[in-house]
Amino acid sequence: MGADLIVGIQWGDEGKGKIVDLLAQNYDVVCRYQGGHNAGHTIVVDGKSVALHLIPSGILNPKAVNIIGNGVVVSPEALLKEMEQFEDLEGRLLISDKAHLIFKYHEEIDKAKERLRGKNAIGTTGRGIGPAYSDKVSRQGHRIGELKDIDRLTQKIMDYFATNRPYFEALGVATPDERTLKKELERYQKALLPYVVDATGYIWDRLQDGQSKILLEGAQGTMLDIDHGTYPYVTSSNTIAAGACTGLGLAPKDIGKVIGIAKAYCTRVGNGPFPTEDHGPEGERLRRQGHEFGTTTGRPRRCGWFDAVAAAYACRINGCDEMALMKLDVLDGFEKIKVAVAYEYEGDRIDYVPSDLENVKPIYEEFEGWSSVVGARSWDQLPQEAKRYIEALEDLVKTPIAIVSTSPDREDTIIRKRI
Ligand code: GDP
Ligand code: IMO
Ligand code: MG
Repeated sequence: MGADLIVGIQWGDEGKGKIVDLLAQNYDVVCRYQGGHNAGHTIVVDGKSVALHLIPSGILNPKAVNIIGNGVVVSPEALLKEMEQFEDLEGRLLISDKAHLIFKYHEEIDKAKERLRGKNAIGTTGRGIGPAYSDKVSRQGHRIGELKDIDRLTQKIMDYFATNRPYFEALGVATPDERTLKKELERYQKALLPYVVDATGYIWDRLQDGQSKILLEGAQGTMLDIDHGTYPYVTSSNTIAAGACTGLGLAPKDIGKVIGIAKAYCTRVGNGPFPTEDHGPEGERLRRQGHEFGTTTGRPRRCGWFDAVAAAYACRINGCDEMALMKLDVLDGFEKIKVAVAYEYEGDRIDYVPSDLENVKPIYEEFEGWSSVVGARSWDQLPQEAKRYIEALEDLVKTPIAIVSTSPDREDTIIRKRI
């Protein structure tokens, strides 16, 4: 039995948290494989809302073990704060000893560089994600397993500051006081080390026992992937399905079903190309009806129409077997609904995603709207127009839609096909 995978197929915030939470009720292990506390997942159960950033969205299933994989960058401060929401994490939360650490100085570098970029700023979440992954790739990062030896880790961090002094001085990032740093690390050691394990070995064992169902949870979305997204306006990790292999230590053969999560329209936070963005009153209406403000930073999300070209690209790159279509209710009351079915690019009509996505113009098809689908829990409850819209998206993206979501609540979900 392979490990099933959930992946965002737009620009993040597709509603992955809701689906992971829903599916996690039937899984034994849920693993995050990349990103950090730049992610924000809101889960609503019985009207009560929980916001998660680092802890996998399977945590509300009391029986599931939740793993933070080696591909995740972990801010101990953010994680400890998030852990306070839960009382019974022992044995239910495991952290890979190979996951890299994010410190306050990563956040300071992130913010300083964004300031220096001025009008070319990426619009990061300011959480230090890029600098932490940069340190990892340039072989000067620090891993959570190193909390075992505080003296050594303190020395390594002080050496890192000494080596990079001119760079930090230019950015206005202060060298930490050694004693304060050591105390801080001791606090992290005490609070986090009990959760730190060889996560890869653990997952291999659970895959091998043949009894366990494993779910892999991607953060962000395909169009924010460092290699295949809208570079440089992306995040600093491989958000696509392939990231689960490197981010957990799995082989491609270990992956089972892949489920792509998409909103029934599109949003993006931060800067960068977004072909179907609607700058007019309808974009504003999507933002209002969809409550499109970031879970992590509270920033208003840019809003626009479903982009079937980008979604087909994302489904191909991730190998999506199925899709979940989220937030269909947000389109309630729209007279006409637009979908990008192709792009105009260098004078031609194209149906692929070029690497310079900022130079395309969407070619739209219009669909009839409907009055209300909010709270629908079965296919039969949907108006004809909504069914037609869903079936048209399936045809355009060439991927079946197995799940349709009609409100933030776990229960307001149409399961067309069991996953
Ligand atoms: P994620 O980052 O992909 O997990 O998504 P977020 O949690 O950042 O953003 C999705 C938002 O939409 C959250 O506030 C969810 O509670 C909400 N949401 C999820 N599904 C639905 C839905 O079907 N309808 C509505 N109206 N809201 C939804
Ligand atoms: P979830 O998991 C939406 C965006 C930022 C910025 C770019 C780089 O909730 O879907 P970073 O701080 O990662 O260096 O910022 O990526 N971004 C997200 N947008 N949802 C997210 O996560 C995001 N995580 C990062 O807005 O444009
Ligand atoms: Mg989010």
